[in-house]
Amino acid sequence: MYKSRLRSTGICVPKKVVTNQDLEKLMDTSDEWIQQRSGIKERRWIGEGETTLSMAVEASKQAMQNAEVQADDIDAIVFGCLVSDYIFPGTGCLLQRELGFSKTVPALDIRNQCSGFLYGLSVADAWIRAGFYKRVLLVGSEIHSTSLDKSTRGRDISVLFGDGAGAVIVERSDKDDQYILGTAIHSEGQYAEKLTLPKPSSNDLDKYGALIRGEDEARNFYPFMDGKFVFKNAVRRMPEALKEVCDQHSIALENIDCVIPHQANIRINQMILEGLGIPLEKSHHTIHKYGNTTMASIPLTLHDAIQAGKVKEGDTLALIAFGAGFTWGASLVKF
Ligand code: UT7
Repeated sequence: MYKSRLRSTGICVPKKVVTNQDLEKLMDTSDEWIQQRSGIKERRWIGEGETTLSMAVEASKQAMQNAEVQADDIDAIVFGCLVSDYIFPGTGCLLQRELGFSKTVPALDIRNQCSGFLYGLSVADAWIRAGFYKRVLLVGSEIHSTSLDKSTRGRDISVLFGDGAGAVIVERSDKDDQYILGTAIHSEGQYAEKLTLPKPSSNDLDKYGALIRGEDEARNFYPFMDGKFVFKNAVRRMPEALKEVCDQHSIALENIDCVIPHQANIRINQMILEGLGIPLEKSHHTIHKYGNTTMASIPLTLHDAIQAGKVKEGDTLALIAFGAGFTWGASLVKF
């Protein structure tokens, strides 16, 4: 059986910075509330010419450059986002078109929201372990800003999310100190409606009618979240998954060098780390500057940690995520 490693990262965030003060002008909120409840100071929103695909391309090119590989060195693409450029085909195929391949490769689109990166990583790792492929490009590219209710009615959600993309190259490893140990992933669909964007839906017989039917229906075109319920489950499930994968690979929590958590709320991450007895310094966060970027949040934060010199080759990393579905997971990586 082969092993795989996380070879490189790349990111792309929109140029436009939206501060909490900017949001105060759009809705009844305050910088103090947002920072206290979530840790967010600013986030990015797309502008003219920036799309799910354009950010994915940019992040991928950076990851390829950092790994010193060309498109044709990549054997497969795994792509994920909440809202894609088209309903179909998936953005993974568009990415294959844009990256300059002279060959065809499989492009898998996944939809696992905030846990998407870990779901994608487990697929890339399994493909490489099984010998199907040697090198996989894994990308999350997310646009929230065009689906948010930016009035006071949507303030509990719209202050939290931001746009951005993160990419990694996962490749075959023959090194004993650089490989992905494993990933645990889970879902619990009974809570699907606790965090959801219900519309547009394939169940609408009259799609355009649903769009113009008025206030009540219009609300379904914005995301809904039962914040406190999601918070409680996130704090419970992420440590559970991390302990599961640590047990599987006989890694003690104190031997983890750095935790890269999904960036939904700094308070969630603080509570988890405290509960696990891992000092906050042994983790990295980008929520203050990017907000919650769903599938992009782990690769964005990992990239930032590498740039900051906080993650070095050979370090044992824990990646943890929780989100809509509910879906959640944890990965252990010797970087
Ligand atoms: O990535 C997917 C996973 N997502 C998450 O893990 C997010 C989980 N949930 C959370 O992070 C938190 O629940 C929130 C940040 C969403 C909310 O924090 P909270 O401490 O649970 O606040 P709350 O929802 O209980 O709201 C407290 C108050 C309410 O006012 P009343 O009813 O006490 O008068 C809200 O109306 O804060 C009000 N509020 C706001 N005030 C100012 C809600 N949103 C805002 C806002 N600005 N943006």
